Amino acid sequence: MKTKSITKLLFAIPMLALISCGGGEKKSLKAKKHKVNPVTIEVKGEMDAELTAPPFVPASVGNRPAKKLNVNMEILEEVGEMTDGVKYVYWTFGGSVPGSFIRTRVGDEVEFHLKNHPDNKLPHNIDLHAVTGPGGGATSSFVAPGHETVFSFKVLNPGLYVYHCATAPVGMHIANGMYGLILVEPEGGLPKVDKEYYVMQGDFYTKGEHGKPGLQPFDMQKAVDEDADYVVFNGKVGALTGDNALTANVGETVRLFIGNGGPNLVSSFHVIGEIFDRVNVEGGSLVNEDVQTTLVPAGGAAIVEFKVDVPGTFILVDHSIFRAFNKGALGMLKVKGDDQKALYSGTIQEGIYNPEGGTIQEIPVAEKAVVKKGKLSKKEQIANGKQLYTQTCFACHQATGDGIPNAFPPLAKSDYLNADVNRAIDIVIHGKTGEITVNGKKYNSIMTKQSLNDAEIADVLTYVYNVWGNNKTVVTEKMVKARRSGGGH
Ligand code: CU
Repeated sequence: MKTKSITKLLFAIPMLALISCGGGEKKSLKAKKHKVNPVTIEVKGEMDAELTAPPFVPASVGNRPAKKLNVNMEILEEVGEMTDGVKYVYWTFGGSVPGSFIRTRVGDEVEFHLKNHPDNKLPHNIDLHAVTGPGGGATSSFVAPGHETVFSFKVLNPGLYVYHCATAPVGMHIANGMYGLILVEPEGGLPKVDKEYYVMQGDFYTKGEHGKPGLQPFDMQKAVDEDADYVVFNGKVGALTGDNALTANVGETVRLFIGNGGPNLVSSFHVIGEIFDRVNVEGGSLVNEDVQTTLVPAGGAAIVEFKVDVPGTFILVDHSIFRAFNKGALGMLKVKGDDQKALYSGTIQEGIYNPEGGTIQEIPVAEKAVVKKGKLSKKEQIANGKQLYTQTCFACHQATGDGIPNAFPPLAKSDYLNADVNRAIDIVIHGKTGEITVNGKKYNSIMTKQSLNDAEIADVLTYVYNVWGNNKTVVTEKMVKARRSGGGH
């Protein structure tokens, strides 16, 4: 991937820039270049990495020596809110979208502990773009629910890098929120600023159109078509607006670590009413100055810096502007302080850029179904099973049991399911790997064992067997119990 000559070239560019700018006032984002080959930087000591949820970032590395840096990251699959009244099952690194921010310096040896929570449904892994090695770590980090994998790498190149899950179907894992940023600071650290924030764009694809209330499943076809229902900063509409807005004071310097998880769309990142004094283009060592809008590729990043000179609300957008005002890609930076009339007259009032349309609609939250426990009628089993299905199965098999082509088999009108109820029970109890053929199509994915009790397995299977044209089998708790206690695999 990377050759020595490319590395040398990257190092040479900022050196030239430093020489040519002749000691002007604007300090380069780039700290002074070490001449040491990063491969040979010795580590001195060990520490646990501080991880933060967006929009916050860990403390800067300053001038600490390279260390062995232990990163403990836990994957959590959990229901979150995309916008008012719209729920979504997010797959997360560390419980947030984007995932926890990791801050390192050149020469660090990162020992990465990736934990997949036992309540999760799926295996995952991690590909860090800051890694020099096969798959960016993905080939060494595949981890099933209830397991932990450990791998290590030395960070060689300074910059801001994306990490993401790379488990098949890769696009779906990324679309569900499995991405984040890892920063590699140069020797001596980045120049000091007053405020630093973490903002990452992502596009989301839901069965229902933008704003349709309820729990919305992922829509594979829309994702393939790149037809996003939501384009957002930090995982949801409004993550950075109102009370969640970023803040700064007049006269301060703000540094934004901008990432784009995609999976599909390129971001035209812009802050309305500000000019970026400095941009680390594509998160690398090249610094551009006086920039209005910077492109952030899917799977890429940028570091932008600007001094806030006047008070007011500054709006962060993807300047592909319908995404901002109609799909959610809008955030706010609120700057407090005295008016600076010489710089800005103040005749245009704050609030003119209030979002419109779907992004601020009030949508009633659907009432949660009440689940009765104990001996259930078939009808009650089906109702309970439906509830369990939306919590456990629908991310992969989809709300209508259609599955996902080439990834997860259908449950609707499934010959495989209808042929053998005991086999179906066994799969829910024990999980399933290896190739199977369903309705004439081959599937070779991984279903992990589900943490459901016998009654729950009976209910969810009864639901599945009694919808979508299946054979109306009723699965009892007793049947599940029999399979679990020796029915075999
Ligand atoms: Cu994943």
